[in-house]
Order: sequence, then structure tokens, then C-alpha cells
Amino acid sequence: MDFTLPQEYLDLQDLYRKFAEEKVKPLAREMDENEKYDMGLLQEMKDCGFFGIPFDEKYGGAGSDVLSYVLCMEEMSKADASTGVTISVHTSLCASSIDQFGTEEQKEKWLRPLANGTKIGCFSLTEPGAGSDVSSARTTAVKEGDEYVINGEKIFTTNSGFADTFLVFALTDKSVPASKGMSAFLVDRNTPGLTVTPDIPRMGIRAASNAAVVYENVRVPAENLLGGVEGKGFKIAMKALDGGRIGIAAQAVGIAQGALNEAVRYVKERVQFGRPIAAFQNTQFKLAEMQTMIDAARLLTYRAAVAKDNGQPYNVYAAMAKLTASDVANQVTRGCVQLLGGYGFAREYSVERMMRDAKITEIYEGTSEVMKMVISGSMNLK
Ligand code: CAA
Repeated sequence: MDFTLPQEYLDLQDLYRKFAEEKVKPLAREMDENEKYDMGLLQEMKDCGFFGIPFDEKYGGAGSDVLSYVLCMEEMSKADASTGVTISVHTSLCASSIDQFGTEEQKEKWLRPLANGTKIGCFSLTEPGAGSDVSSARTTAVKEGDEYVINGEKIFTTNSGFADTFLVFALTDKSVPASKGMSAFLVDRNTPGLTVTPDIPRMGIRAASNAAVVYENVRVPAENLLGGVEGKGFKIAMKALDGGRIGIAAQAVGIAQGALNEAVRYVKERVQFGRPIAAFQNTQFKLAEMQTMIDAARLLTYRAAVAKDNGQPYNVYAAMAKLTASDVANQVTRGCVQLLGGYGFAREYSVERMMRDAKITEIYEGTSEVMKMVISGSMNLK
């Protein structure tokens, strides 16, 4: 066992880091203030292949793996967490589901444009009355001839403001529990009856798009049923979220490391009581604790990614990584704001944005409480 990244991953990390430093970081504050993602930046990331990292080259992807994707997520999120989630939802929730469960025809038609960056994907699962409790979803898809007619309302759908491809979860059989009666559908944004509301104003990741989506008699051909079999939707969603949680763990590690790097720069320059505050043991110990927590979260995240890459069970590892990394991101960003004092609280310094951005990592793609359900569920407690 070797805990160092092989050279090819270090090279990739370097590439992602340079892009994030040069292209993403300079826009992060403005995008947050405007509550709007920069479409020019989105296009540049598409052109660089950042939306197809773990997908096979035969579908237009980069032919890389989950660990590389994690490195990208961390580097982008160090600069801007909104960028992280934009890539994450597209990659690990939408495109990965098609990669894992789609028929060959569906991969050609729907995965290819997502993997080669032509189109952006989103994941339409959460409803106003069904968040952690996915089973209480109400959106339906009724078969009429060669079509399904989808009706319902989704909320908090990341990327929905500009996504082209909507992966939508709807009940095809209401007579059985949702875990057996839910199906997943591929829906093009321009399908009549699909309406995206304006973005929901939020505390953090404000540049990311996140809105409600209404489906009113949305007709899709039966061939848009993901995997071609009804009743698989719940498990597709759960599998997608297992993978998605690795990405969010990496996002949280990135937010934490980004904030800590800012704090390290600051404490070396800030002079109080006659010396740089980096010279005070309180500062040194705080920084030491925070870097150690980040490294622990990063190792858990790498473990989950490598297990997925190796075809081993990874859902519990993913939950542990997300539970830990999201907590670390919140503790560290709070600690960094404190180290920067009044300047940390000022909008001019990025740690206040990072502290706001960190909160959502404990909530989306499964709350910390859901992570504990997943972990304790694996512990043979009955
Ligand atoms: N992989 C495969 N199958 C799974 C699974 C997994 N990870 N988890 C559960 N299942 C299966 C179970 O084996 C069971 O199958 P059988 O019926 O065949 O036995 C079935 O699914 C039902 O399982 P449960 O009884 O455990 O289901 P539950 O209703 O109690 O829910 C839960 C379990 C863990 C709480 C689940 O609902 C969950 O993960 N909730 C959180 C949802 C979530 O993360 N939402 C975020 C949405 S995305 C988002 O945030 C927006 C965005 O755009 C970023």
C-alpha cells in the first residue's frame, strides 16, 4: 500500500490546479455576488474535457477514472465551490447513471454529448415533499402507447438553469413502494411541458444554478426509460448518489484546503502585537489541527474513489468520506474566518464565501444524518 499519488495523477492535479488558479479563482467572487455562473468559463471547462473525466473515450470521455475526477473536484472547489458542484452533478449523478445503467443506444445518444462536453446534465430527484425520504416522491410517469407522460414537481435541481439533459425520477407503479415502482427517464430540456423556475436564492454556492422544475404532461418516447426496464429508478438514484457523495467529499476537501491556504498566506503578513500572527502558537496549533483534519478527510475520499475504480463496494466509504469531509469543511472555514478576524468577515476576502459554501456539503446528496444511516446500516446492529 502506498499513500502517495502516482506521477500521472500528480500531473493531472497540476493541470486542474493551474486551470482553477488562472481561470476559476479570478471569477469566483464576482459570480458569487451576481448569483450567476459565468457561461464563458463553463464553455472553457467543456472544451478542456472537465465534464467527461471518468467516461470511456469510446463515448467521447477523457478515459480517466474516479480518482482523477476527485482531484479535479478538489482543485476546482479550492477556487470556487460552485464550479465543483456544477461538474459534480453533471458527472456523477447524471452522466454516470447513463454510463452505468443505460442501454448501448442510450449511451450513444445521451452519454456521448454529456461526456464530450457538448451538453450539460442535471439530476431531477428531490421534490418539495421528498428530500431525504426519496420513497415519498409523487412525480408520476404514465405509459400511453409508445410514450410516457410525466407529471410532477422537483426542487433543488442543481444545473437546471442551463442543463440540456434532465435525468428525471418518476413513479411508474404507485401500487408498490417507490423502491420498486420508481423509474428513471432521460428528458431533453426543450420537451414541451418542462419548465425551470428562476434559481432559488441561497446562502452558499450562489453561482451554481439550482431551481425547481415543473413537469406538466411532459411526453417522452418509451425509449427514454433509462435501462429500458421499469421499476429500477430508486436503485439507480441510490447508486448515483453513492458515487455523487465521493464528488461532494472532494468538493468539501477543496473548500477546506482553499480556505486554509488563504489563512496561511494571511497569518504570515498580518502583524499584531509586534509580530506576524503566524508566530503565535495559537495560530500554529490551529493551522496544524486544520491541516490534519483536511488530510484525514482527503484520505477517506481517495479510499472511496479508489474502491470505486477497483470495482469494490464503496457506498459506505463514500458516506464516511462525505460525513467527515463536510464536517471538516465547516470547521475549517469557520476557523479560517476567525484567524482572519474582521477581514475574514469582510466580503473582500474569500474565506467568508467559503464558510457559506461549506454548509451545503452537509446537506445535499444526502445529509450527514443520512450518511450516518448508511454507515450504521452496514454495521450489523440488528
Ligand atoms: N445501492 C443500491 N440499492 C440500494 C441502496 C444503494 N446505495 N440503498 C438502498 N438500496 C435498496 C435497498 O437494498 C432496498 O432494496 P429492496 O427493496 O430490494 O430490499 C431499497 O433500495 C430500499 O432501501 P431502503 O429501505 O433502505 O430505503 P429507504 O426509503 O429507507 O431510504 C435512504 C434509504 C438511505 C434514507 C435513502 O432514501 C437516501 O439515500 N436518502 C437521501 C437522498 C439524497 O441523497 N438526496 C439528495 C438528492 S440530489 C441533490 O442533493 C440535489 C442536487 O442536484 C445535488
